[in-house]
Amino acid sequence: MIPFYIHAIYIIAASMFIVGIKWMNSPVTARKGNQLSAMAAILAVAVTFLNPSLLHPALKVDSPLVDAWLHNDTLRWATVFSGIFVGSLIGFVMARTVKMTDMPQAVAIFNGLGGGAAALVSVATFLGMAQHIVLQGAEESALSIVLGTLIGSVTFTGSMIAFGKLQGWISGRPIRFPRVLLMLLGAGAMLLAGYVVVASYRHGGLVLFDRTLFLGAFACALLFGIGLVLPIGGADMPVVISLLNSFTGTAAAFTGFVLGNNVLIIGGALVGASGFILTGLMCKAMNRNLVNVLFGAFGGDGSGASVAGDGGTELETSVDDAAIMLSYAQSVIIVPGYGLAVAQAQHGVQKLAEILEKKGVSVKYAIHPVAGRMPGHMNVLLAEANVPYSLLFDMEDINPEFEKADVALIIGANDVTNPSARTDTNSPIFGMPILDCDKAKNVIVMKRGRGKGFAGIENPLYFLPGTRMLFGDAKKTITALVTAVEEA
Ligand code: TAP
Repeated sequence: MIPFYIHAIYIIAASMFIVGIKWMNSPVTARKGNQLSAMAAILAVAVTFLNPSLLHPALKVDSPLVDAWLHNDTLRWATVFSGIFVGSLIGFVMARTVKMTDMPQAVAIFNGLGGGAAALVSVATFLGMAQHIVLQGAEESALSIVLGTLIGSVTFTGSMIAFGKLQGWISGRPIRFPRVLLMLLGAGAMLLAGYVVVASYRHGGLVLFDRTLFLGAFACALLFGIGLVLPIGGADMPVVISLLNSFTGTAAAFTGFVLGNNVLIIGGALVGASGFILTGLMCKAMNRNLVNVLFGAFGGDGSGASVAGDGGTELETSVDDAAIMLSYAQSVIIVPGYGLAVAQAQHGVQKLAEILEKKGVSVKYAIHPVAGRMPGHMNVLLAEANVPYSLLFDMEDINPEFEKADVALIIGANDVTNPSARTDTNSPIFGMPILDCDKAKNVIVMKRGRGKGFAGIENPLYFLPGTRMLFGDAKKTITALVTAVEEA
């Protein structure tokens, strides 16, 4: 039995999670929200150490080795703290060193490990219980154990494949995995797991002979996760990661039921629900539906690419000409994209905007919901450079303003400005809402060369008469532009 005061502290931690998430809603309070949630996690973990069943484990297990370990305080605590130390160290180093553009991979790894941990706790609990041939009264746990195992396993292997794809270790192209096999694995996992649950209810407890079936369900779920994510193309991977994130939360919540731990149930449910909402928002922003993402390969390898605009001529401009155009404009809309993040040009952009504003130019930033490689990517980058939040405008709000803008300054953004998404039914991004940069009086596009965007397709915007290409690394070009605008 977990003592009352531990439950009370868990409720406090859970409330802190909820307030933390609420604060994360606005960039102004997001940092505070993150810190509060981190404190809640530390509180929840710390108070768990006061749990008597952890301090004095009463469980007897059949294996003499495990039994000896369980009842040797020094050894047990040494193992627990070594795990915490090694895990925290790896997490700390990863969080400090991961590049902003590699964040989706980092999230994939964290998700995968969370799901894997939830699955392992459930598996260990089942194996521990099943030693008692029939554990009377444990049948209620069976459903939570089985669901925690299945969802956690799919999350683990699915996230590892997603990580491999984003890191370039596995091809980003959709890799064929026979659908029949995938369906058989899914059905196998559910049938075997379903049998274990039904049998536990029939016998009034968990039964030993179910162990093989349970492990079979576990193996099927692990393979199912691989088969589910392999055929999904790189372009859809961030959506998949967000979905797997919500699976991690759900698996953790079931583990909370298994362990009778309220904070895990609430925390898991929060992650599960918020991950699911985020997945929906990302699908909407990319005009994809979830079933399509999961079962209709999108690619990201350029296959089926639109060729609209091919054969046209791109008109180049120089830093000096661009500086004059910007200095004499009345209104400029800056469109940041993935290239800005790669080049880390956010501070230069902020400086450029500041100088332009001093010259009386109105400057606004247009933020596309999937610009960059993760939700909120541009907001975080620009906030880091102290760009006032009041200057950032969502797509719906800024789109009507492009017609009146003198210059749309596109910095390392490509797909989110591609007008073929409106008109070209063959384009893989057809239907994705885009920023209406092509409607501005003049367009300046800053990119290194003729590289494609994430969807791997040509952008007809670059061939319009009002568009000028300013080639070069965004950071270097912005630095030169700042000097040129100051002098103009
Ligand atoms: P992209 O379409 O990926 O285009 C980025 C452009 O930046 C490239 O064309 C590249 O051209 C340029 N670039 C790269 N490095 C640069 C550098 N150092 N300096 C200057 N330019 C550089 O980016 P986007 O417009 O932000 O669109 C995001 C894409 O990611 C969309 O397809 C979106 O669907 C996808 N996606 C995003 C998310 C989220 S949540 N953000 C989720 C799923 C998918 P060069 O090689 O010629 O320089």
